[in-house]
Amino acid sequence: MKIVKSIEELISYRKSVTSKVGFVPTMGALHNGHLSLIKQARIQNDIVILSIFVNPTQFLPNEDFNSYPRKEEADIKIATLAGVDVVFAPDVNEMYSLQEPKVIAPRDIAYILEGKKRPGHFDGVLSVLMKLFHIVKPHNAYFGKKDAQQLFLVQNMVDTYFLPINIVPCDIIRDADGLALSSRNIYLDSKQRAKALSLSVALKNGSQAIMKGEREVVKIEKIMREALKEVEVDYVTVLSRDFKFVEHISIKETLLLIAAYVDNVRLIDNLWI
Ligand code: PAJ
Repeated sequence: MKIVKSIEELISYRKSVTSKVGFVPTMGALHNGHLSLIKQARIQNDIVILSIFVNPTQFLPNEDFNSYPRKEEADIKIATLAGVDVVFAPDVNEMYSLQEPKVIAPRDIAYILEGKKRPGHFDGVLSVLMKLFHIVKPHNAYFGKKDAQQLFLVQNMVDTYFLPINIVPCDIIRDADGLALSSRNIYLDSKQRAKALSLSVALKNGSQAIMKGEREVVKIEKIMREALKEVEVDYVTVLSRDFKFVEHISIKETLLLIAAYVDNVRLIDNLWI
């Protein structure tokens, strides 16, 4: 496996590759969620490129950019075992210059839900992905449904700028107890972890209500909130898959979304109906 730090080196490597390239962008601290993206990329492509870059522009000043887990050595071992061909881990000074145009995510979608508490977050996500997409030039790029709003905005950017990239959505990977895997789960002690389980319970309760015939959003949200008494809810939302707020849902087009704080750890989870 190649480890490439320089952008120039990656561009020149990419020029030498004529077969199908799959790309998995990450911020590292790899877990089984990331691994499932890599596995899917491995099956569908000749070459798999994994990027590891803790992107400063998607963190707000008060967020955990400095303390975000960085585990390069372990990540490289995991990537090697998973059959990644190239790990691309660029330096922040090479990725960004002082003055540069940015990708601005559409306001109506980027400033609700995740974007409400994190204004500008998605501009940072899309700006770094635009750079990475141009450096890596993948045929397929793999994104987790765990970050449903990110996935929607990435697909929207690819469509808007006519980027010749196939975005592949990947299912959410959970621990056996139901907790969705996240690099931030390591911040949770055992008591907090028990509380964190209420997110997946709330999603299950919401989906069960839907299966029993409930279609009214207010009622589904209420059922979900009942399971979330031990955490501080940021939002509980039932909306259509194109991120439109609706009063009544239709099956196969619905997303249940939750963001909540367990003490000071912010967790998100969702379910696609
Ligand atoms: P990061 O949080 O490292 O996630 C990288 C990819 O892994 C994302 O597409 C995310 O949705 C996916 N992922 C995380 N947890 C998952 C889980 N439990 N099941 C399935 N997929 C999961 O998302 C980012 O990095 C950044 O915003 C990035 C896209 C790299 C841009 O900086």
